[in-house]
Amino acid sequence: IAKTAASGGPGLHPEVLAFTSSLALDKALLTEDLVGSIAHLTMLSRTRLIPSEDARAIREQLVAIWKGAQAGTLVLADEEDVHMAVEAEITRVLGERAGLLHTARSRNDQVALDLRLHVREKVAEVLGVLAKLLEGLAARAEAERETLLPSYTHRQRAQPISLAYLLCGYGAMFTRDVDALGFVLEQVSALPLGVGAIGGTSLPIDREVTRELLRFPRLTMNGLDTVGDRDFAMDFAYAAMRSLLHASRVATDFYDFASPEFGFVKLDGEIACGSSMMPQKRNPDVFELIRGKSGRAVGNLNTLAVLVKGLPGGYSRDLQEDRQVLLETGPLLTSVLSMLHLALGKVHFDKERCFAAVESDYMQATDVAEALAMKGIPFRTAYKATGALVRACQERGLPLAKVTLELAQSVDPRFDAEVLKSADPRRAVERKANAGGTGPASVEKQIAELKSHAARA
Ligand code: ARG
Repeated sequence: IAKTAASGGPGLHPEVLAFTSSLALDKALLTEDLVGSIAHLTMLSRTRLIPSEDARAIREQLVAIWKGAQAGTLVLADEEDVHMAVEAEITRVLGERAGLLHTARSRNDQVALDLRLHVREKVAEVLGVLAKLLEGLAARAEAERETLLPSYTHRQRAQPISLAYLLCGYGAMFTRDVDALGFVLEQVSALPLGVGAIGGTSLPIDREVTRELLRFPRLTMNGLDTVGDRDFAMDFAYAAMRSLLHASRVATDFYDFASPEFGFVKLDGEIACGSSMMPQKRNPDVFELIRGKSGRAVGNLNTLAVLVKGLPGGYSRDLQEDRQVLLETGPLLTSVLSMLHLALGKVHFDKERCFAAVESDYMQATDVAEALAMKGIPFRTAYKATGALVRACQERGLPLAKVTLELAQSVDPRFDAEVLKSADPRRAVERKANAGGTGPASVEKQIAELKSHAARA
């Protein structure tokens, strides 16, 4: 049962303590809490609000708590939250002097700080993972410039592309995640500490000292806003959700590609999971779970939004319920993105089969129509003529790449040998030279873009 005054006094019913406690979750914020307390303590001592020898004694205890946590010997008292548990521990050793630490501070600004420190740390971690993922995609793209495979719209074969282009397409999504996390960092970078419970403090503190010690570029503007603000948490949850939606969509591609119906990739034994009954199975569980786990991020963002919606200005205890989803976000993101990086390194493309899919179909039809259009024929006319040619080929069971000049001219006399050359899938890919296309020059630029985002992350 909690002993400290802030926990509700000696009268608090044990079930109420259990119901209101967040210790089980927010003990994960112990390091952030200690770091914040040490900075606050230093500020109190520098501004002479508390005697330096008391500050030193308290600091020693805060460090001892951290060491105990590292060594696994720390036992936190059964308090309402990690903040009270730390205070209880210092009080156990130092007695009344421990109470100096909470001068000009509320748990409302304290928890806002802990959460911001946590998000800052996690964003840095995730950026590291994204950098590796982007580097991996760029390197693989460099190795797969010559590999061709179909692209899809409506999950129907669309146009031939290089595998490098597909990988750059994945990378493009993750470059936006780097940008989104940059925004999160920018949002989280205001120091909340010093606004107290809501209205500030009459004690002559110096928020600038704490700001510099904790390396925040600016202070939050208004205490009322600060203690009730979880926008930074939602920004992180949103960036995380978006990144995981990207991971999920990549996973679905490989989930499909690994099925014999596509037959484009073989999963390395290291990532293929078996069945407890069917001996022949090599299942893409890794990709399924990347997709499945990503769904949690959608729920997490929703949880935060619903939590904040309808709260009045200032702090409400509801906000404590941000803990579970926020603390899950960083590890979820890191584990899924790292696994995607690992798994992508362990898929083997069946290049022949990919090329056969490209060659045996009609995906170069647009290129043939465009070649006709280049001769001055209106595109819509060229489109119709090529459509008729495709149907003529289909009736004869002939892939577009194998069409004869004779057949083409019987469909429309404007087809010539030069136009038919564009039915060659390699040429179809090579000729897409514009920015953003699958042509080699464009893909080189895209690879460079992935690398520069990786370096920036
Ligand atoms: N455990 C609380 C939370 O996480 C700390 C803040 C409590 N503030 C209060 N006024 N009871 O939100």
